[in-house]
Amino acid sequence: MTNYLTHLECSVCGDRHSPHEVQTVCRSCGRSLLARYDLTAAQQSLRKEGFRDQRGGLWKFAPLLPIEQEEHMISLGEVVTPLLPMVTLAKELGIAEILVKEEGYLPTGSFKARGLATGVSKAKELGVKEMCIPSAGNAAGALAAYASRAGMTSHIFIPEDTPVINIKECKAYGARVVLVKGNISDAARAMNEEKKNNPGWFDISTLKEPYRLEGKKTIGYELGEQYDWNLPDVIIYPTGGGTGLIGMWKAFEEMETMGWIGSKRPKMVTAQVDGCAPIVKAFREKKKESEFWSGAETIASGLRVPKAFADYLILDTIYKSAGSAVSVSDQSLIEAVYEIAQKEGLFMCPEGAATYVTLKILTREGFVKPTDRVLLFNTAAGNKYPEVIS
Ligand SMILES: Cc1ncc(COP(=O)(O)O)c(C=O)c1O
Repeated sequence: MTNYLTHLECSVCGDRHSPHEVQTVCRSCGRSLLARYDLTAAQQSLRKEGFRDQRGGLWKFAPLLPIEQEEHMISLGEVVTPLLPMVTLAKELGIAEILVKEEGYLPTGSFKARGLATGVSKAKELGVKEMCIPSAGNAAGALAAYASRAGMTSHIFIPEDTPVINIKECKAYGARVVLVKGNISDAARAMNEEKKNNPGWFDISTLKEPYRLEGKKTIGYELGEQYDWNLPDVIIYPTGGGTGLIGMWKAFEEMETMGWIGSKRPKMVTAQVDGCAPIVKAFREKKKESEFWSGAETIASGLRVPKAFADYLILDTIYKSAGSAVSVSDQSLIEAVYEIAQKEGLFMCPEGAATYVTLKILTREGFVKPTDRVLLFNTAAGNKYPEVIS
């Protein structure tokens, strides 16, 4: 298999690192590393149309992913997730087109499967045996599943009030689960404490290793294909750690470098919740980084991230795309889950519903125009959140 991976590059200082050794963050400045490819060579031998008829989900983009040997690609049957139109609600809001990327169809019922498929596969390729993660819920389930498939061990640190299905699925996959009082930041602290005595553990936290981002990047490649290389005008993404948003942007840059799309980009919008909105606050204050959000609380467990490690990349993407950032109330999420289910037949997770409520606000404010083609995300199957439906 031809693979175009060349090196890892620091997202801040530009230092180069080898992709053939286990890497976490930049050794010079401690920031996130990004996988880089020989896109000139890729452009010469890959055709964008060539992927359309290939079977399989994200692994069909393997030449542009970091795993170098096919035998290390751990798969649980990923699919290209569909774009489902919201017809009734588009009419009600007076918008040309609303599509929902339905990520609940992925293994373990959430988009976290993308990043953990590539992160765990690369870790296996590099000889890692044990991994650890602090998680808001869905990433934990995906890590547990892919680790089990790969014959590796996972240690999961998770808030004790995480949706119960996330805890149960991790246990079912044979992961070691440590319940922590507090939120994902408290879980990370507990994990780092234990990790001191376990130097063999590989920390697979969001953007503290370079390869989960690559799996999330495949959302961008799929969108290229699904929109016939003419991307939507506005993308609204429920943002916690931000891998999907940053990953899509990285894919768009790579696609432009290979001549697959032009320079026009969607406006990238972050949807957060009133109970935890560090990116929204930083955006309003025109800052480059966010501040830690104290007392984070929301039913949208995936959005309870008080400080994203790569907040500077999230904000950079929003600014570069002339995007926006909006927070919504928990009550509006619950109402939206019912409204969308009853008018469109889609059972959204609360994080996904946040993208629809954000769209309503941005339409009212005139940020989204009647002629816009808008993309929303349902990042997990609604069935994973029985607590939200009374
Ligand atoms: C369902 C769901 N949506 C959105 C998010 C936020 O994703 P990201 O960390 O890519 O911003 C999460 C994270 O846990 C999640 O589980």
